[in-house]
Amino acid sequence: MSTQLTPILTRFWDDPRSWTMETYEANEGYQALRRALETPAEDLVQAAKDSGLRGRGGAGFPTGMKWGFLPPPDGGPRYLVVNADESEPGTCKDIPLLMAAPQFLIEGMVITSYAIGCHHAFIYLRGETVHVYRRLMRAVEEAYAKGYLGKDILGSGFDLDITVHAGAGAYICGEETALLDSLEGRRGQPRLKPPFPAVAGLYARPTVVNNVESIASIPPIVLHGADWFADMGTEKSKGFGIFSLSGHVTRPGQYEAPLGITLRELLEMAGGIREGHRLKFWTPGGSSTPIFTDAHLDVPLDFESVAAEGSMLGTRALQIFDETTSVVRAVSRWTDFYAHESCGKCTPCREGTFWLKQIMMRLEAGKGLPGDIEKLDDICDNILGRAFCALGDGATSPITSAIKYFRDEFEAGMHTPWHELFPAERSTLF
Ligand code: NAI
Repeated sequence: MSTQLTPILTRFWDDPRSWTMETYEANEGYQALRRALETPAEDLVQAAKDSGLRGRGGAGFPTGMKWGFLPPPDGGPRYLVVNADESEPGTCKDIPLLMAAPQFLIEGMVITSYAIGCHHAFIYLRGETVHVYRRLMRAVEEAYAKGYLGKDILGSGFDLDITVHAGAGAYICGEETALLDSLEGRRGQPRLKPPFPAVAGLYARPTVVNNVESIASIPPIVLHGADWFADMGTEKSKGFGIFSLSGHVTRPGQYEAPLGITLRELLEMAGGIREGHRLKFWTPGGSSTPIFTDAHLDVPLDFESVAAEGSMLGTRALQIFDETTSVVRAVSRWTDFYAHESCGKCTPCREGTFWLKQIMMRLEAGKGLPGDIEKLDDICDNILGRAFCALGDGATSPITSAIKYFRDEFEAGMHTPWHELFPAERSTLF
């Protein structure tokens, strides 16, 4: 068993030509694939299960279990679709990974496809990221040229083609079933689940939809063993993950660490809150996860501990805000985002996010009306659990949690505009 600890996926990002096949191969690249192709497919699915890897896209569903949900082969196609539509506010791990070391994903896709019996895999990329599209296209070309993709991969008899598809830039297309609709050429809107994609996904065929980081974690698991991975992290949140720190932090960026690390420890790596300031609030996993405050600095960042404190680990997008920030204004920005990105398919989300935005905007402007805070709570209550997909639920998280911790700032929104309450924040804008 290897003793290598984090960093793993980020370990050669500083190499000036980190994205090339040459650099990847010099860093154990494609050794896992050679091993995988000599392993029975069902053993690879078992290894994914034994590793305890949970989906890195936010929900944390066990990856090996998802692969295991595919029905037995019936002679027809089955697909692997990688969700690279990273759009959750604050989330910036998949795109840097694809820019810095795209072959991790491609090697992971070949191994996964071999494990699940797929011969055509797709990468669905966020539409606006043209630079990532170019890099991925080049990486896929390099993999074909080396015989890691195409017919008879490394003489194993296994064939795989990869198609890179760029979306048109809609947050909803990161929802896996909306993504599948979009990939099929339709307007991206979520489908009713069940059936889950594992049973009826792309072109109504069995489909595994996994996040970039989940699939990129497969080669190290195959190379170093499921136990090696499972030894990292906590009892139910195994392995390592990329934590993205942004906002009022000295060195924002991606920090790879075992799950269960705390914000206090991550801040030590990132040089702390910007000088002369102190932590006010933060998101553990993007704006769709309820906010935390300075009272949560020592919460282990694993699925269970974060949930026990009333939030979600989500995408490990830690957006850090210091005391100069108006929480009402920050929440208002996020609410605007959700209202804009709501696909409109279901009434609670379409109408609810619209009304949330109206109220947040007047509180931000210091023109809140009596009863507005209760109205926000009531609308959130009517969206939560009633929307068609997770977008609606996500829109409520920052609002209800911010009211819980910073009610006084919402009350101040009845009479005082945010820029009078937080002049330092305003001064950074103009
Ligand atoms: P979910 O919990 O409904 O599903 C998670 C995964 O498990 C899906 O792939 C689903 O198909 C699979 N699954 C669940 N139950 C299953 C079953 N019984 N049989 C077969 N498969 C099953 O969560 P969802 O809606 O896919 O994702 C929500 C999360 O997405 C949020 O927690 C949020 O953190 C994250 N998110 C991430 C974004 C990003 O940019 N990475 C953007 C927005 C949200």
